[in-house]
Amino acid sequence: MCADKTATLSLNGQTYDLPILSPTMGPDVVDIRKLYDEADIFTYDPGFTSTAACKSAITYIDGDKGQLLYRGYPIDQLAKESSHLEVCFLLLYGELPTADQLEDFRNRVTRHTMVHEQMHYFFRGFRRDSHPMATMVGVVGAMSAFYHDSLDINDPWQREVAAIRMIAKLPTIAAMAYKYSVGQPFVYPKNSLSYAGNFLNMCFAVPAEDYVVNPILEKALDRIMMLHADHEQNASTSTVRLAGSSGANPFACIAAGIACLWGPAHGGANQACLEMLREIGTVDRIPEYIARAKDKNSGFRLMGFGHRVYKNFDPRATVMKESADEVLELLGSHNNPTLQVAKELERIALSDDYFISKKLYPNVDFYSGIILEAMGFPTAMFTPIFAISRTVGWISQWKEMITDAGKIGRPRQLYIGPTQRDYVDVKDR
Ligand code: ACO
Repeated sequence: MCADKTATLSLNGQTYDLPILSPTMGPDVVDIRKLYDEADIFTYDPGFTSTAACKSAITYIDGDKGQLLYRGYPIDQLAKESSHLEVCFLLLYGELPTADQLEDFRNRVTRHTMVHEQMHYFFRGFRRDSHPMATMVGVVGAMSAFYHDSLDINDPWQREVAAIRMIAKLPTIAAMAYKYSVGQPFVYPKNSLSYAGNFLNMCFAVPAEDYVVNPILEKALDRIMMLHADHEQNASTSTVRLAGSSGANPFACIAAGIACLWGPAHGGANQACLEMLREIGTVDRIPEYIARAKDKNSGFRLMGFGHRVYKNFDPRATVMKESADEVLELLGSHNNPTLQVAKELERIALSDDYFISKKLYPNVDFYSGIILEAMGFPTAMFTPIFAISRTVGWISQWKEMITDAGKIGRPRQLYIGPTQRDYVDVKDR
């Protein structure tokens, strides 16, 4: 990153030279850090459409090319060749592991899959019909009350233990939230299983009969996890960074990320999308929904369509679509009506001027719900599975932020409220 170029700002007869920073990939960045000190002016960018709030070496997206790289490796190569735990290692430590490193990492994660036994009682305080995301926000936040030995953010060893704990325990917590909601006993983690296989077992095994993990579903779930593992400075990751910038403990920061992810404009879109596809029901009703999505007054958007960054295609959606076809074919449910509606909706939308001109393409959530439904997950579990997958991204970005010695996140504002006025006693108002 060098700053041998400058941009010049002219303001009230004065000029200010602003350094231009060059990244390894992507557009240059104007460094405005000294602007307020020198020119007494703020910049205005709600939604951060043009603002880099940090530097990062983890994930790169080129929205025009439809490119997503984890530590430089293309997502489609990783999704086809790698595994979620290997991707976790890559995101956390920057390089693909050797066979020994991967084995060691797998052992470390596996050793932490159980949660403190007392946490079981914590679950019982929730209503049975709570959304599993609501339970997860609470229980993950409560991890800071159970794991006091990994709260010191200034100790690299404690940061490392917190990272491993979170990657290992989030699937257990999500599965417990699910089991609690359906009134079944919790299933303890089984360390002989893979990361994805263990999660399937914790969700679907019951004491009354054996459950055998289906390798097709195990592989498909592992791929879904890889595709969701990180996505640079999206809303939930920025939330984790902002929370962490105050020095909050990592469990509290990840709980904040989970809360942000839940919204339908972000991770909640996978649930909303499948519900929309089911509501459409048959292909003959698609034109009605396309018309509603184009009508600004309807307040309706095509869920699983559009992205802040991808303006060509979402490379994760391409892999996800292939995966949906493959999984449903292997399960013998390729005539699944929801998949038929999804494909036809995609075809119609992509040939419609409204969607073409606004560069609206299917995003990762468009096909993921179809696969998760075929696996037997209820829609309420879709976003928790996203949260499990994104945990490594959040924690990698959090670790990067802590070691970058950054400042507390503190945006400025364009104040539009009343100017100073004097207090009026209640009897005179
Ligand atoms: N259906 C219909 N119109 C849409 C859609 C959609 N899904 N998405 C955007 N538009 C339209 C908007 O109405 C707007 O039109 P206008 O310029 O005439 O006002 C234009 O496209 C741009 O939309 P913005 O909301 O300004 O785009 P932004 O980048 O802020 O939002 C977002 C991106 C939130 C993803 C949006 O496309 C959306 O709401 N999509 C549906 C929800 C969804 O699928 N979210 C998942 C995102 S991926 C993820 O988190 C894993």
